[in-house]
Amino acid sequence: MPDFSFENLIKPSISKIEKYIPGESLDLNKNPKVVKLSSNESPFAIPKKVYNKTQKLILSSNFYPDGDSNDLKEQLSKTFKLNYKNIVCGNGSDDILSIIAQTFSKEGSEVICSEYGFTYYPIIAKAAGCKVVTAKSQDLKVSCDNMLKCITKRTRIIFIANPNNPTGTIIFKDELERFLKKVPKNIIVVLDGAYSEFITDKKYTDGIDLINKYQNLIVTRTFSKIFALAGLRLGWGYSNQRIINLLEKIRGPFNVNKLAQSVGTLMLKEKKFLQRSISHNDRWRKILPNKINQLGLKSYETFANFVLIKVDQKKNSKKKILAFLKKKKIIVRDLNNYGLNDFFRVSIGSSKDLKKFLTELKNSITV
Ligand SMILES: Cc1ncc(COP(=O)(O)O)c(C=O)c1O
Repeated sequence: MPDFSFENLIKPSISKIEKYIPGESLDLNKNPKVVKLSSNESPFAIPKKVYNKTQKLILSSNFYPDGDSNDLKEQLSKTFKLNYKNIVCGNGSDDILSIIAQTFSKEGSEVICSEYGFTYYPIIAKAAGCKVVTAKSQDLKVSCDNMLKCITKRTRIIFIANPNNPTGTIIFKDELERFLKKVPKNIIVVLDGAYSEFITDKKYTDGIDLINKYQNLIVTRTFSKIFALAGLRLGWGYSNQRIINLLEKIRGPFNVNKLAQSVGTLMLKEKKFLQRSISHNDRWRKILPNKINQLGLKSYETFANFVLIKVDQKKNSKKKILAFLKKKKIIVRDLNNYGLNDFFRVSIGSSKDLKKFLTELKNSITV
């Protein structure tokens, strides 16, 4: 047997990676009574007509999909009024994020992420050999000033989720532009808009309108949230053509499967579905924090499809609350691995599931 350690074969930064922990999941087919509010998924199934139009595609699974996702890109261009050539598609937006990290960094580069930000960014940065620099947040909000202070000569990429997961906070357009103006142009800024479609506030931008103005900007988007396709894996990125051409070279040759391409293309045309999802979310993102606060817990304004909740552990035990909810078959997201030890997060699920959650949350602290 060869006597060597695999540790010697990998980039040193890879041994520092902590595996991504997803929101707890159960097979909902086997556990139909489970209320899953842990991963910010859509509570709505795709429209029947989209299902009917695409189910037969499985029969042609023996053939590869279109490697360039042409129909999907065409529909994205129409729906969002974009240039077709500025789009790259991926197997979920995490695929695009990972391709960006591979493309724009090398060993020894630095990648800036925010404290209490999406935990996948440090993973892909370390996988690319980079050092992760964490910018302190301010009152749970991504701090543009602190991000700027972290910039050094070695900085290659800055990742920002806007709105931020798991805090639900937002950076409005004026603040974002002040920040972008100050970032040196040789540093890639990734604006992750996984929750963009939920926002109707005119002071917000997903960043697509800024692509021509800032040559170092990449916007990423997903079909996992408002478009209800988390299980199919579909995401996309938007930037200037030079950047997109580079990302296109790195991505897997057939990184988006044919079912995802086809269902995604059709979902972009489902305006009623989209409107219903926005209205539902808007209603609950106002109701839910109020109801939670009335129970004596602390929750926060959100701009996305989830709500952050703080437990005052002198009064209540988070562990007990989450165990109680789990016993009642309600799964929420513990945030210990985000460094938010007093917090958990709940997705804006269906009205029925949220009512059950509120009832059992109340029981969990009164029983
Ligand atoms: C901020 C953020 N970005 C990206 C993703 C990944 O989304 P996808 O399912 O497209 O890989 C998530 C998923 O929760 C997220 O919260």
